[in-house]
Amino acid sequence: MLDHLVSVDDLDEEIIEDICNRASEFHDLRLNGGLRRHPESYETLRGRVMIADFFEPSTRTRFSFEAAMSYLGGKVIGTENAAEFSSFKKGESLADNFRVISGYGDIVVGRFQNEGDARIAADACLIPLINGGDGTGEHPTQALIDYYTIVNHFGEEMPDIITFLGDNKRSRTVRSLAKLLASFSSPFTVQFVNPKGLEPPQDLLDELEANEVDTIICNDIRDPDILTFTDVLYVTRAQNERSDEQYNGHAYSLDQSLVDELPDDSIIMHPLPRNSEIPAYLDQDHRAKYFEQAHNGLYVRMGLLELMLET
Ligand code: CP
Repeated sequence: MLDHLVSVDDLDEEIIEDICNRASEFHDLRLNGGLRRHPESYETLRGRVMIADFFEPSTRTRFSFEAAMSYLGGKVIGTENAAEFSSFKKGESLADNFRVISGYGDIVVGRFQNEGDARIAADACLIPLINGGDGTGEHPTQALIDYYTIVNHFGEEMPDIITFLGDNKRSRTVRSLAKLLASFSSPFTVQFVNPKGLEPPQDLLDELEANEVDTIICNDIRDPDILTFTDVLYVTRAQNERSDEQYNGHAYSLDQSLVDELPDDSIIMHPLPRNSEIPAYLDQDHRAKYFEQAHNGLYVRMGLLELMLET
């Protein structure tokens, strides 16, 4: 039972496996054309309403949640710019906003400007709430998608070394994925590679240590020991909109010579959107999985919506 999904702490191994198994069924159905041909086998949310209340811009999270609910036979209402188009603009509190809209549907997906806002909204909500990203806090559904993408590639043999390259301080996707992987018992090593000043937050390092995850922090993208042993290279952009500290993400961009250092069976992931940190010519590399990762969002969010609405 999952009342709200605010943090990956709300998930356990069984829930994650249930969501991924269902996502895999939807994935197969869609690849085989079955999402068009056999609507009776997946339109499990007919008559249900999802509310999308987004206070920050989004491409993947909003569109894939809306598509997921639509494929499941449900309806979607909401706004892509609640900060401007809801009564938040007139001074209504976040808590009042979510308390009120929760009377109009069955589940809410929110995106928030500040860390902690998702918890405030969930506490006010009378129906299940899904955190679609809260400032520098968490992005639990992205972590589920990332996990699903990793399992799809590696199967039972989970990766030994994951390298987070980029903005490890302000990226909520880094925090959520690292926490989610650490909650599993299989041992692995996390390498954080970032410009000086963008090191991962101490609470995340403490949590990894408590889960006996080995961590390495490195400021040199060209350190020869880093990429050679990486199974998953998880790249993020410099999130300069999140603080006054401005970093030149370009200095931490991948290029062909760096990618050539990676093992042949490794994968390159990115939650997207990207800036200059992965040039478009690298999209052709067989290890580039970020568009597949983005598309997996549809199946994982279908599985999650079904599970939270208990069909
Ligand atoms: N990865 C992700 O959350 O993308 P959007 O900001 O476009 O939703």
